[in-house]
Parts: sequence; structure tokens; C-alpha cells
Amino acid sequence: MPDLAIVNGDLLPLEEARVPALDRGFLFGDSVYEVIRTRRGVPFLMEAHFRRLQASAARLGFSLPFDLPGLAREIRRGLEGAGYPDAYIRIVVSRGFGPPNIDPRLVEGGPSWVLMFRELHVPTREEYEKGIAAAVPQVRRNDREALDPAIKSGNYLNNILALKEAIERGAQEAILLNREGHVTEATTANIFLVEKGTYLTPPLGEGILSGITRAMILERAAAEGLPLREETLPLDRLRRAEELFLTSTTRDILPITTLDGKPVGDGRPGPATKALMERFRAWAEEIHQREKESW
Ligand code: PDD
Repeated sequence: MPDLAIVNGDLLPLEEARVPALDRGFLFGDSVYEVIRTRRGVPFLMEAHFRRLQASAARLGFSLPFDLPGLAREIRRGLEGAGYPDAYIRIVVSRGFGPPNIDPRLVEGGPSWVLMFRELHVPTREEYEKGIAAAVPQVRRNDREALDPAIKSGNYLNNILALKEAIERGAQEAILLNREGHVTEATTANIFLVEKGTYLTPPLGEGILSGITRAMILERAAAEGLPLREETLPLDRLRRAEELFLTSTTRDILPITTLDGKPVGDGRPGPATKALMERFRAWAEEIHQREKESW
């Protein structure tokens, strides 16, 4: 099954997709992006991803070149061509192209956009059953007042540096602190911990991406009266956590069972994490059934 791209409306194999060298996304990371997954062929929470993309672009001072129905049309086109059971869909929108000068007024064409369709790869069964290793890197999360992590931009150098450090220390993920030494998020995922049976996650004010998986969990947990709070979490609370897990579009809920080489709890996914993974499956199924009707 082919990986496909749609570049400014042209459908072609992903490996043949090109953007101009003068594209500001390439030159400066002057772009925004989203990652959407499908569940049994239907894009999951597409509208929420569209809204966040729109908000990210607005923060950078440009508008999206499509509306929600327009995006849905292009996604349907790509999915029909791709034909695999479930897809990873990456949407990238750049301010456009222009001279190699950062002045945003010099943009000549744009915004330009690319949709990428690949077969969805989720973590392995073993990773879900055993959990993964994380490390707390030296590098801090971008400061909100410098480059707000709430903007899902094409500039992921902060995250790349953190992940590189974590990999060098034998871990698969990094959990970044902010300037105050509070827990923020992982490199492409939000973070939750369990303390005395309560789920805790840093508030948006700590400087994180407002994850769509995170928001879904917060909303559903509140509706079902699960013990879950947003709370500022200094590093020692992370180190003492009974359980740890991350959340993202492509991983749903994934347990973290070692932190900086030490076991989290007894080193296995804990009961609260497993219970939430179970609930999450039911919530996702319910949302999928609803979304299937209107797709
Ligand atoms: N990453 N934090 C960061 C920095 C992210 O890049 C992501 C998403 C998340 C989780 O957000 P969501 O639940 O909306 O996927 C948190 C995507 C999946 C990626 O870059 O692949």
C-alpha cells in the first residue's frame, strides 16, 4: 500500500513529495502541524485537531488555506488512495515561501500545505504490557514567554534535543521540566502520574501542548467522577510517583515503568494506569461510533 502526500492539492507518492528550498517551513520552521490517526478508517477527533491547527497558525499570524470541510475532503481523498486499515495523517501548513530573510512580511506565496498519509504504527503489545523507559533531560522545555509550547509549530528542536539526551541515556522518552523545575510534558506526548490513587497532570500554565488525548481523558474522567486533577508537579513528585504514563494521538495511553534507570512503583504498569487504559478503549470506541456516522 502506498504512502501518499497531497502537496497544495496535488496527490502523489510520499517519497516524491517536495517543497521549495525557499519554503519558510524548511528555512525557519515557520509552520504549524498536526498528527491525526484514524480508527477503523475514520479520522479520530479531526475537528479538535483542525481547531488546534487553526489556533497554532493564528498565534504565528497566518490563516489556514482550508476550512474543516475542505480538510475533510482532502483527507478522504488521501485515505481512499492509501487504502490501509489505519492511517497516520500529518498535516503541515507553512507560512509560505519567500527570500531567506526572517521578516514575515516578505512571504510571497502561501500559506502552503502538505498532507502525509502513512500506515499507522502504534507501540508494540510488549511496550503496552511492560511500559517504556523515560529520562529527565538537562534541557528545559521552551519557556512560554519565548516560544509557547501550546503552539504546535514545525520548530521541534527543543523536543529533539531532549529526546537525543534521553536516548543517549538509554531511555525511549524524555520528560521535560520548565524553568521553575516543574514537570511539563514528554517530547511528543503529555504526561500523567498517579499519587495515592489519584491521577495528576500538569496544568496548561506550566507550558505544554494542550494535547487532544489529554483533554479527552480530562473531560471523560470528570464526567465519570474519576479522581483526576491538574496540578503543578515539582520533580520530586515525579520521582516518587506510584505510576507514570504518557498520552498522545498515536500511543493513546502508554505506561512508563522506569525513570532515569529506576523502577516506577514496582517497575510494571500499575493498576490505575491499566484501569484508565481500559476506560480509554471504551471512550474511544464510543467516539468512533459517533464519528463513523458523520464521516
Ligand atoms: N505529538 N505534547 C507534544 C509536544 C506533542 O507533540 C504532542 C503530540 C502531544 C500530545 O498531543 P495529542 O494528544 O493531541 O496527540 C503533547 C504528535 C502525536 C506527534 O508529534 O507525533
